[in-house]
Amino acid sequence: MKFTQPPEGEYEKHIVPVKGVSSLNFDPYAAEVLTNPYPHYEELREAGPIVWLERYGVYVVSHYNTVRDVLTNPDVFCSSAGVGLSNFHTEKPWRQPSIILEADQPEHTGVRAVFARILSPRALKKLTTTFEAEAETMIDRMLENGECDGVVDLAHAFPIKVFGDAVGIMNEGREHLLPYGDMVFNAFGPVNGRFKECLANLGPATEWIYEACKRENLTDDGFGAAFYAAADAGEITHEGAGLLVRTTLSAGLDTTIFTMGNALVNLGRHPDQWAILRDEPKRARAALEEVLRYDSTFHSFYRTTTREIELEGVKLDKNQKVLVLVASANRDPRHWTEPDKFDVTRKATGNMGFGAGIHGCAGQMIARMEGEIVLRTLATKVETIELLGEPSLHFNNTVRGYTSMPMRITAKKH
Ligand code: HEM
Repeated sequence: MKFTQPPEGEYEKHIVPVKGVSSLNFDPYAAEVLTNPYPHYEELREAGPIVWLERYGVYVVSHYNTVRDVLTNPDVFCSSAGVGLSNFHTEKPWRQPSIILEADQPEHTGVRAVFARILSPRALKKLTTTFEAEAETMIDRMLENGECDGVVDLAHAFPIKVFGDAVGIMNEGREHLLPYGDMVFNAFGPVNGRFKECLANLGPATEWIYEACKRENLTDDGFGAAFYAAADAGEITHEGAGLLVRTTLSAGLDTTIFTMGNALVNLGRHPDQWAILRDEPKRARAALEEVLRYDSTFHSFYRTTTREIELEGVKLDKNQKVLVLVASANRDPRHWTEPDKFDVTRKATGNMGFGAGIHGCAGQMIARMEGEIVLRTLATKVETIELLGEPSLHFNNTVRGYTSMPMRITAKKH
């Protein structure tokens, strides 16, 4: 695994789009947009189902149906050119591509099958009791203190502990996981100031990840060891096994951490919705789904055209990057009733918080399990959640979440 800095992008040199398409100078990565993206996404949707972004020389799709069409046509909208702005078919990838996320059929199919087997419902069932016990311990500790930080004490602490143990990585140095994930998700966007600053502050995270993915540094009973066993059986290569551990660590932590933080923020901001969940903890799974719809963690990623194709009446050239704005699809009024309302009783299934199609999140079962256990345990034990001040938003080119969330919680009286 070699990691190098990505090439500097000269996005302003891109040519204009074909006639008849709205062309905007909108920057989906601007701090102002990341602070509250939803009014901007609405403007974008109003401009049309497909819009040209002048600054980056890419098309963006933001309507529910168009996003779905792109994600479910992987032969035309491929992932092997990278799911970020950089085009691996024409530019050197900044790191060795993921053999699952950044692969196309037929190679993708076999790797995905190995991944799915290793993280099967049976394998996950064995982890339930441990995950539940850990959630109870953490939430009891927060209740003892009363005032706590929802991100630091729970949203961050829980996945780092339970998911890290499930993969089988060493305890020492787990603080490097988040900076590494932050860089990976920033790298899906442009080489902007945010990305450069992240890279400059990375420290030894990349080297630590490299070491953590080695077979000899993994426990014998985790997902990591199981990837190497699949390599022994000839299903994937040994190098591929290391890359799958890397993908699991980069795709599986920031995402769950931010999702749990987004859940806490939105439940704290909507006491009526918290009351519904608190009174019926079995709604935890549905509430998590609504969090993923209403405040999607993974906001956007790219696909690249493999040939000339017409999309929403627009002719796209081969090798064209298309920004897929799933967070906008999840708020599209053409699909959802009152999309800007956070409603834990809503049937939010069909939201694209985990993507869609053959690349739809391969870790969604364990992610849902973690999220559901945390929300259910909170709803079982906690009476009130009060946010103490504004939570600190974390700025990243691709994922949305918080780094700190001071809050006060009180226990339920049984
Ligand atoms: C709530 C937490 C999570 C969210 C919101 C999330 C979101 C996503 C999304 C949107 C994609 C699709 C990317 C694309 O189509 O290009 C994806 C893919 C993926 N995710 Fe997740 N993810 C989460 C948790 C996890 C976890 C815990 C793991 C690891 C166990 C994981 C592993 C993966 C992998 C391997 C892929 C690539 C799948 C493929 O290309 O076939 N994710 N995730």
